[in-house]
Amino acid sequence: MATTLAKAEDRIAVTHAARIEHVSKSFGGPAGRQLVLDDISLDVAPGEFVTLLGASGCGKSTLLNLVAGLDRPSAGSIETPGGRPALMFQEHALFPWLTAGKNIELALRLRGVPKAERRPEAERLLELVRLGGSYRKRVHELSGGMRQRVALARALAQDSDLLLMDEPFAALDAITRDVLHDELTRIWRETRLSVLFVTHNVREAVRLAERVVLLSSRPGRIAREWTIDIPQPRRIEDAAVAELSVEITEELRGEIRRHGQH
Ligand SMILES: Nc1ncnc2c1ncn2[C@@H]1O[C@H](COP(=O)(O)OP(=O)(O)O)[C@@H](O)[C@H]1O
Ligand SMILES: [Mg+2]
Repeated sequence: MATTLAKAEDRIAVTHAARIEHVSKSFGGPAGRQLVLDDISLDVAPGEFVTLLGASGCGKSTLLNLVAGLDRPSAGSIETPGGRPALMFQEHALFPWLTAGKNIELALRLRGVPKAERRPEAERLLELVRLGGSYRKRVHELSGGMRQRVALARALAQDSDLLLMDEPFAALDAITRDVLHDELTRIWRETRLSVLFVTHNVREAVRLAERVVLLSSRPGRIAREWTIDIPQPRRIEDAAVAELSVEITEELRGEIRRHGQH
């Protein structure tokens, strides 16, 4: 924990965890080039929680992959001064032949953590996601929610100061998702990580974020953003969350109407 706190202090000196400047992305296909992202500029401040909200196919994953460094923008630039961001997807992408603990230790090994420190650190991370005691469990023994907890612990094992999350709870039932929202909020506040969280779920976006950024479709552009000052921890059924979600949904519907085909 000491290293995490020291890192949190270092972060105060930098002005952004991610800076996306005038980023466009197009893909070539049989029907010609398709512009998917058009002139996106967005900063994520150190310790900030931003959700990127938009209809499916609007380019959210494309943008997250660019920030992760998995692909390159066609134009513009992306900076992540803290180094390579950690990534978490809808699919847990855990190795099924390894235990929960060993999946996390693999990430620690890739980060260069000495062998003797890996086991205690993996145990600490499992505690952090409230899976203490599951070190020896195999992936098939874990529920969907538990797998995503392990995936989160593994992402945290990368010790990055920016966590990118691509609809990580979309496949979970509503109650499990609700519990994981609470856990994510708690972990975000404890670790002071910066989070860029992608979702098509308006309530989820409002439940979690300090700032919601709405992307339009075809091409993806920043349509509008909202600062959310409802105190945390929030509940998805809070009146203030519901009220703002209605407003944002209206805007999203407008976007979808303008671009059709959904
Ligand atoms: N590697 C690729 N090659 C060609 N087209 C792609 C590629 N990746 C994404 N696209 C297209 O970009 C658009 C946005 O996709 P995506 O970023 O996955 O949307 P979202 O995550 O918002 O649902 C889609 O029309 C998709 O078909
Ligand atoms: Mg996607």
